[in-house]
Amino acid sequence: MNSERKQKLSLKRCTDLPGPKAKAIVERDKAVLSPYNRPFYYPFVVEKGSGCVIEDVDGNEFIDFNSGLGAMNVGHCHPEVVKAITEQCKRLLHYSYTDFYYRYAVELAEKLGEITPGDFPKKSFFSGSGAESIEAFAKVARWHSKRPLFIAYTGGFHGRSMGALSFTASSPVQKRRYFPTMPGVTHVPYAYCYRCPYKMKFPDCDYWCVDFIDDFVLKKYVPAEEVAASLIEPIQGEGGYVVPPKDYHKRLKKLYDKYGILYAVDEVQCGMGRTGKWLAIENFDVVPDIACMSKALGGGISLGATIGRAEIFDWEAGSHCTTLGGTPVACEASLATIRVIEQERLRENAVRMGEHAMKRMREVQETSEIIGDVRGIGLMIGVEIVKDRKTKEPGGDMASAIIEAAWRKGVVAIGAGSCSFRIAPPLNISQELMDAGLDFLIESIREVEKDR
Ligand SMILES: Cc1ncc(COP(=O)(O)O)c(C=O)c1O
Repeated sequence: MNSERKQKLSLKRCTDLPGPKAKAIVERDKAVLSPYNRPFYYPFVVEKGSGCVIEDVDGNEFIDFNSGLGAMNVGHCHPEVVKAITEQCKRLLHYSYTDFYYRYAVELAEKLGEITPGDFPKKSFFSGSGAESIEAFAKVARWHSKRPLFIAYTGGFHGRSMGALSFTASSPVQKRRYFPTMPGVTHVPYAYCYRCPYKMKFPDCDYWCVDFIDDFVLKKYVPAEEVAASLIEPIQGEGGYVVPPKDYHKRLKKLYDKYGILYAVDEVQCGMGRTGKWLAIENFDVVPDIACMSKALGGGISLGATIGRAEIFDWEAGSHCTTLGGTPVACEASLATIRVIEQERLRENAVRMGEHAMKRMREVQETSEIIGDVRGIGLMIGVEIVKDRKTKEPGGDMASAIIEAAWRKGVVAIGAGSCSFRIAPPLNISQELMDAGLDFLIESIREVEKDR
């Protein structure tokens, strides 16, 4: 790390990693909690967080480069969000809005209608998670269109409940032993240009991946008039932080409009200002018919939203409901989060810091054999690690080795896809913390490259 920066930055370091308290919790955890994703990462045992810094149970501090899996866009324990939650806790914790009424859900639905793209009336359904926002999308799309089928994309991640899992296609481990999932979803290749599934080159391909859907899917075996919707991540998250080319979504939307197929976007990870826009799809100048949101939407409290053109939500009362979706506390936390993003101009900061981080990583790429690709919009940046830049042979375990080494230095980053890692800190990260986190990652890349 730049020595001046090192002097200025004083992240607390109290023990070796993992420290004794962390080790003890990991042992207790093994006995009583399901394994989840943890085998993929290092033993980071978090205790508290403030802004973009998180502290482990032994008192060691780290820069958060994954925003609590994408949920903490305004940083940890933002005072405005904490205040809104605390005040709401004294007023009303729960009283299901799907059976009665409360202003908190109305206010949030109104606000989401205002900030999401599309100059038309919109309606929202609130739930408790990203997967549930997808479940609601699938059901309302079927109900409204009276069509049973869907198109989804390879590399896409949409959650793990049986309906949402049917759309997910980013790793076999997510689906192994769970078939049969919900029938009716056909997957087509996503525009992952660095590793084009058709082995073509952009722009010479002229968006063949879009024409393929028309010529070889809809005209051959998936009757277009029976397809309710296409569900797509505007920028893929779990699949590797994959950014499609500028006109991809426009071309897709045009294709689906031809057949009356709804354009639904999964904004669970890429939404809420992360790319500098409220919804990532806005970067591609497309207005979706439906958007699914969660993670940062609730400012740390469980919340999912399925929002779309008002006329789509024409299902009969009782057709879809949930008890603890859109609780008053979650709605107030969400409204406070939106206020903070607006008032502190965090979308602008995301663009500024994102461009800075991409520039630095691209400079390193020039002298590194193992950085295959640096891509992203705003603070949704993926760095793909390869064994060889010419052959693009995937980097195997090198991405994990890099993020583990970087954690030992003081930044908590996670992987994406098979061999990429993410740079996705809270949107209010300062240049100082951004540079320090990047220094840790860059030093780790150099070490892993030297030792391979
Ligand atoms: C794009 C996307 N959609 C849906 C989900 C599922 O959200 P949840 O884990 O809240 O069910 C995720 C979670 O990572 C996601 O990244």
